[in-house]
Amino acid sequence: MDEQTIRLLQESFAEVMTMRQEAAALFYERLFALDPALRPLFADADMRSQEMKLMAALALVVGKLREIDSVVPVLETLAVKHVAYGVEERHYATVGKALIQTLSLAFGPRFTPELRNAWLSAYGAISAVMIAAARRGEATLDAAE
Ligand code: HEM
Repeated sequence: MDEQTIRLLQESFAEVMTMRQEAAALFYERLFALDPALRPLFADADMRSQEMKLMAALALVVGKLREIDSVVPVLETLAVKHVAYGVEERHYATVGKALIQTLSLAFGPRFTPELRNAWLSAYGAISAVMIAAARRGEATLDAAE
């Protein structure tokens, strides 16, 4: 990822963090609008703390874009937990869409194609790591049966 893209992501995310509660609430609103069937996955979750966990996880990744290897193990552990939560591979695309819609609403006309592409590539990289780890986790479980 080039320096310009990293800077765009970090600056825009810093702005999102100043309105993180609203942004996180908007994100889940978009997510459940895109796929109402996802709601039951969060039945046991305290949405307030869930919203903050999501923002904290994104903050961690966005903060470490120059040393992305250091967050791969964190994402892998997170991915395996997500399998236990009932998250399926196809859900990552829905979450990505909800994230982009949230950013688009939050930034309005300032959500330029360049900024959109920067977020698409960041989310694409994060979800690729998580999906691969989830697949390996499932393969390990299958082998143990
Ligand atoms: C970039 C991708 C994602 C990130 C960074 C992320 C982040 C997180 C974090 C940090 C937690 C809390 C984990 C814990 O407390 O152990 C969590 C929980 C959860 N996430 Fe994600 N997540 C991602 C993708 C997804 C996707 C695709 C779904 C599918 C809808 C999803 C659904 C959930 C659910 C159901 C929980 C558990 C809620 C509960 O019952 O407490 N996440 N996520």
